[in-house]
Amino acid sequence: MSVWRYTSGLNADVVRHWVDRVAAAPTKGPKPSLEPAPHTGRELPFLRELHSQKQSKFTPWKLALPSPTTLVPAVLLLLILVLQLAVFPRLPSHYQLFRSSSPPPPNSCPSVPAYNPFVQELYCRAPQYTPNRLYRQTPHSMALAAAAERIAAEFEYPKEQVQKGVTAFMRQMDEGLQVQGATLSQIPTYVTAVPNGTEKGLYMAVDLGGTNFRVCSIQLHGNSTFSLTQSKVKIPGDLMTAKTSHELFSFLAKQVETFLKTHHGEHYSSHVERRKKSSMLSGESYSDEDVFSLGFTFSFPVQQYGINKGTLIRWTKGFDIPDAVGKDVCALLQKELDALHLPIRVAALVNDTVGTLMARSYTSPGKTGTLLGAIFGTGTNGAYVEKLSRLTKLAKMGPEAGDVETSTGEMIVNTEWGSFDNHLSVLPTTSFDRTLDAASNNPGIQMFEKRISGMFLGEILRRCLLALIHDPSTPLFTDEHSNQNDMHSTTNIHDDSPLYRPHGLDTSFLSIASGDASPGLKVTRQALDIEYGVSAASAEDAEAVRLISSAIGKRAARLSAVAIAAVVLSTGKLTNTTGNADDDTIDIGVDGSLVEFYPNFEDYLREALREVPSIGPAGEQRIRIGIAKDGSGVGAALIALVAERERAGGNASAASPSSGAGGEGGLLQSVLSSLNRNLRIRV
Ligand code: GLC
Repeated sequence: MSVWRYTSGLNADVVRHWVDRVAAAPTKGPKPSLEPAPHTGRELPFLRELHSQKQSKFTPWKLALPSPTTLVPAVLLLLILVLQLAVFPRLPSHYQLFRSSSPPPPNSCPSVPAYNPFVQELYCRAPQYTPNRLYRQTPHSMALAAAAERIAAEFEYPKEQVQKGVTAFMRQMDEGLQVQGATLSQIPTYVTAVPNGTEKGLYMAVDLGGTNFRVCSIQLHGNSTFSLTQSKVKIPGDLMTAKTSHELFSFLAKQVETFLKTHHGEHYSSHVERRKKSSMLSGESYSDEDVFSLGFTFSFPVQQYGINKGTLIRWTKGFDIPDAVGKDVCALLQKELDALHLPIRVAALVNDTVGTLMARSYTSPGKTGTLLGAIFGTGTNGAYVEKLSRLTKLAKMGPEAGDVETSTGEMIVNTEWGSFDNHLSVLPTTSFDRTLDAASNNPGIQMFEKRISGMFLGEILRRCLLALIHDPSTPLFTDEHSNQNDMHSTTNIHDDSPLYRPHGLDTSFLSIASGDASPGLKVTRQALDIEYGVSAASAEDAEAVRLISSAIGKRAARLSAVAIAAVVLSTGKLTNTTGNADDDTIDIGVDGSLVEFYPNFEDYLREALREVPSIGPAGEQRIRIGIAKDGSGVGAALIALVAERERAGGNASAASPSSGAGGEGGLLQSVLSSLNRNLRIRV
């Protein structure tokens, strides 16, 4: 039996069941059973009542021949069935008493046009589920749908706005290349070339991203492949806003120690032994031959002064540890690693976008170098290959800038695009964006990121849902629907529901809701129940949530296209063509939960790229977007490899054993020479 219940007070299946039984009732022979056929699934009270009424009414069936009183309800039931099958389906859906759940309509577009074309398209692009459309069944459903549609429409980001965004983005990129302290930081990374896949060796990397801290060791095989061993731990919330940087960095060092003991136990113990011996033999200095080179992916804005040196400009993504700002984060980590006597040297400081770009370049098919590494995860940012001649602020930095290797004529630049248009000249802004920003720990900063990234999308949705919950005229999560859709229970939002807590709604829920195609959006309703303390949400509730989730996600994807389009256009990659399709491919490496899991993210993004006149469908086709999963770790290892070679001055005997038996092999000379030659690494 279908679990769908309608307001008419009768259920089509039950009616059919009884009519069939009447029709099949023998006039002679054994008495028919009067027990209703067993029902699967749970029943609404009114159905149970119906069943018990039927049993008493049909008592006369016990006679051999039906009496006229028996026939009356049967005829009535037959009449209802005929009406349902012959007449009701022709009425508009909101007048239908019963709706068949099969066959499902061909798509999920509503028959009655939605609030506006943007909302209509959101419905049509949503995955289809059974039964298909539940809206407009009752005045309450209609009111809820209308309210959800109004909120969803606020997240529309039309084509003309996309174009305006691209123009402004390109202008702010230029500014950032010329002066320090511009809205787009455009940070020089001192990495002036990308790998080609032939590099070899065993390296370590750690990655402080936003949500998690990862420790990995990476074996580069030299044929564009690598093996990765990694451990991941969620950063405890209190450490994100710890009183001192020591609290955070000593926690990180501890994780590295555990990883080494677990995955490289032999190396670790032999090192500890050697250390003990060397400290017993007076006058013998400790050798650093067995020290791992470590790439430190630190995904926050850092003013870099060399390959393993950089001071924190500001915290983002919910971190706030004031005493770390302005300090060299490599030194902070090295100090804690040394305190634990770990055989590790922090050899390179890498933003996750730079790591992603390096990793994608190492693994991407063909000869085409990667242009851009971008993260759409807890935060959002991009790093791209820029011409040194356009990075004019380097010259203005004086000695602070350190040595810059100029042989490739290029350098990877970390845009820190999360802070694009902080002054909101072109970014779309709803009341939800405004209140989110005001309540954040960095109001007025990272405004682009606050509309795109995983750190914030869940919070935007939570604020939208609260607006509906607090509006007495909007029946979201009220009993109006639950008694139709969920049998015995009463809809209830628990007092301690995470929906009432800032950042209580995880962005992964947007992916769940937007992609939900389960019957009656059961998956979304279960998530609401189990994760968010909303019991017995109805399918109409879930559809309202799904619609708003899709609108927020779609806007995020289209905004992401603005950044990608601006980088592609400002680097002139579209206009410099060779005529060879392979060489003309513009390769982009991406990573992050949003781009990986949010339904339709790339489709929405590509659609917006096509809408930019100077890209158009032809340009969009030349853009290849590939996931560089966990790329930041691999990228950091690649840069650590380069740093280590540089440090060893190409002298094989001095190279660290951590580079593996095969040595680095075909490491790009240009990468080698790209490093800051003044670099001196602490041991
Ligand atoms: C934030 C950080 C940036 C990082 C991005 C993605 O925007 O400021 O450095 O790359 O998140 O993790």
